[in-house]
Amino acid sequence: MKIVVIGGTGLIGSKLVAKLKQQGHDAVAASPKSGVNAVTGEGLAAALAGADVVVDVANAPSWEPAAVLEFFERSSRNLAATEAAAAVKHHVALSIVGTDRSPDIAYFRAKLAQETIIKASAVPYSIVRATQFFEFLGAIGEAGAAGDKIVVPSALFQPIAADDVVDCLAEIATGRPLNGTIDIAGPEKAPFNEFVARRQKASGDSRTVVGDPKAQYYGASIQDTSLNPLGEARLGKTPLATWLARL
Ligand SMILES: NC(=O)c1ccc[n+]([C@@H]2O[C@H](COP(=O)([O-])OP(=O)(O)OC[C@H]3O[C@@H](n4cnc5c(N)ncnc54)[C@H](OP(=O)(O)O)[C@@H]3O)[C@@H](O)[C@H]2O)c1
Repeated sequence: MKIVVIGGTGLIGSKLVAKLKQQGHDAVAASPKSGVNAVTGEGLAAALAGADVVVDVANAPSWEPAAVLEFFERSSRNLAATEAAAAVKHHVALSIVGTDRSPDIAYFRAKLAQETIIKASAVPYSIVRATQFFEFLGAIGEAGAAGDKIVVPSALFQPIAADDVVDCLAEIATGRPLNGTIDIAGPEKAPFNEFVARRQKASGDSRTVVGDPKAQYYGASIQDTSLNPLGEARLGKTPLATWLARL
């Protein structure tokens, strides 16, 4: 199968392209580095010619509210139109668990706009909503840096290894379109600050990590129900300890 991975040079995209190639697929990484820009449309029609499946794991270079919304709206509209013209049979997108539950987070609003465009398009689709990646824990901690402390929310959190997200995406991309959404989360659920503290400790960072129910996550207060799957969800197989041991 020819599978074009938009954002195929990124964290998830590069792992996904490698996995699909291992499985014998004609997996192609498409991104600005290879002359394909989903926002401007540059190189998109040529990249999608003959593709059976497109997986969109691109990410916006700026998370400023207007910029990130424009990125996901424009790229999703361009992809929908170009895929329809190229008779692509399946569009797969990676979104985030709870995008519809935290409207105060600008990034989540942008991902929800992406999902809405995909659902309205003519191309059969599957949306995989993942929780936050273990690989993202360091950046989340830095966002809460306050002097010699790190202050982050204390709400429940269920992050996942990028490799487990990639396994799920590879399975979905090579299967039939769901025309629906699935959630995937990590195998362990614990207060947000505990995950961040374990990540910091593993990298030799001695700052104290404080869990504060009022601390914000990208500009919003979060509750135990904000970032975790509320219904049925697939679970990744990698516990944080296993992932930390590989650092
Ligand atoms: N971080 C999390 O915890 C989390 C959780 C759930 C879901 N997600 C979603 O996972 C997806 C992948 O995230 P990631 O961390 O793997 O991203 P990443 O490492 O930041 O990679 C971003 C990718 O997007 C590409 N890109 C940027 N602008 C583009 C454009 N105009 N057209 C086409 N491609 C473009 C980049 O290409 P170049 O290398 O050529 O610049 C790169 O390949 C995102 O959609 C994100 O919303 C993230």
